[in-house]
Amino acid sequence: MRIATAKRKSENSNTTHQGYLMKIAVIGTGYVGIVAGACWANVGHKVTCVDIDAAKIAMLSKGISPIFEPDLEDRITAGLREKTLHFTTDITSAVRDSEVSIIAVGTPSDPDGAFNSRYVLGAAKAIGDACRGLTDPRYVVIRSTINTDIFKEVRDLLAEHSNISVVSCPEFLAQGTAVRDFERPDRVVIGADTEQALQTVRSLYTDFVVKDERIFMMDPASAIMVKITSNNLLYNRISAVNEVARVCDATGADWKKVRLAVGADHRIGYEFLHAGPGVGGSCFGKDNRDLSALATRKGLALEVLSNVDSSNTQHKHYFAESVIAPYYDIFSDAPGLQGRTLGVWGLAFKANTDDMREAASITILHDLIKRGARIRAHDPAAIDRARQEFTALGITDRIQYCTDKYDAVTDADGLVVLTEWPIYKNPDYPELKERLKQPVIFDGRAILKREDVLQHGIVHYAMGRGFAYPR
Ligand SMILES: NC(=O)c1ccc[n+]([C@@H]2O[C@H](COP(=O)([O-])OP(=O)(O)OC[C@H]3O[C@@H](n4cnc5c(N)ncnc54)[C@H](O)[C@@H]3O)[C@@H](O)[C@H]2O)c1
Repeated sequence: MRIATAKRKSENSNTTHQGYLMKIAVIGTGYVGIVAGACWANVGHKVTCVDIDAAKIAMLSKGISPIFEPDLEDRITAGLREKTLHFTTDITSAVRDSEVSIIAVGTPSDPDGAFNSRYVLGAAKAIGDACRGLTDPRYVVIRSTINTDIFKEVRDLLAEHSNISVVSCPEFLAQGTAVRDFERPDRVVIGADTEQALQTVRSLYTDFVVKDERIFMMDPASAIMVKITSNNLLYNRISAVNEVARVCDATGADWKKVRLAVGADHRIGYEFLHAGPGVGGSCFGKDNRDLSALATRKGLALEVLSNVDSSNTQHKHYFAESVIAPYYDIFSDAPGLQGRTLGVWGLAFKANTDDMREAASITILHDLIKRGARIRAHDPAAIDRARQEFTALGITDRIQYCTDKYDAVTDADGLVVLTEWPIYKNPDYPELKERLKQPVIFDGRAILKREDVLQHGIVHYAMGRGFAYPR
């Protein structure tokens, strides 16, 4: 792995728009923090990643990534080898030694849907304490997804430190492509009140952003709103697509044909136009719930965006309750799912991640199990996290975790596809047919080629395309 050489600040003292070697503390080594830390270290910056989770820090110090994310472990081991990347639980020394401190801790939902700010405020307080007595300029960059109220709380908390500037720089990476997204971002958004703060944070990105116009600099409130808007529009779009897919199922329309023609409209386009089993992940739902709670606090009634999260929850139930269960009521000798075994391919909320947070599989497996089914599940990366999740839900004894995808369908009454992992796309159909007790596939991602499935004598349901039967 090539490590790019960042120029020293002293060589560039008049050129704040240029990159220079920075000392950066990254607080929080979750999906956002560790990717940012490792990628900055790989272009030569001196990065110290901090976490309160000592076990995570111990793993990372050995070059082991605690999460599954393509290319991430390579970046971590290269940073350790070049001694540009360090890990610690000692926030005080990491912050004191760094010009820039990045806050990348979680902002989970409170019961009313609002972001819980305790981790962000905890990190901000620790940074303030660490900076006591220092007078040189320091930058606290909030990369966690927050709202404007939380930004103000952080600024108030650090107001006594006249040398500290608080900056918003939201993260837009998508899990599964996080390293690529960080190293080749669509855009970088920076919100700060001073030119010096804007330029300092900007210089963190000059190695990654080729075109200058891809860096958007603005006030903090607007920067925060860019992130909130992006996630809410994407969540709204997928949820609308899923609703239309349900209507296609009910009317005999084929979402694949509809999608291809609809996406040809340049005002709409093809991105985020696939129907699926329901949106998962730790961001879209959480960010939408906070927007609703924020709007309520500001006395606003949002009719469209306030209902996206409940539409998505409804859609997750739709697959189990309105597609899979009714199939057995109609087409089998004994109705219902009681005593049946279903094979499941994919548990992670999307391909190329092991993240199970808010995964559609959680709701769907819960629904199927509640109706009496047993599950044989396969996932290339998420089995360990899934086991933890389903153990917490008290249903893990109904699930057998399989390391071989064909093992998951042995003697099963059907196969349910929940995650679009590439390895599921072209299965060995004769093998599937032989192992399945009942030849039916519920393709929640619509990733299988319908003609191939039918040709092998297997019934095919695909999200938004309804059922098709072999001749
Ligand atoms: N995951 C994503 O794809 C993604 C994308 C964009 C934005 N975000 C946002 O970024 C933030 C972080 O998300 P994530 O998925 O990386 O979270 P995460 O839960 O995976 O990681 C957060 C980490 O912060 C650590 N932490 C908490 N308090 C700390 C403290 N005081 N000091 C040091 N470490 C501390 C935790 O131990 C944990 O390791 C959230 O606000 C999220 O909404 C996430």
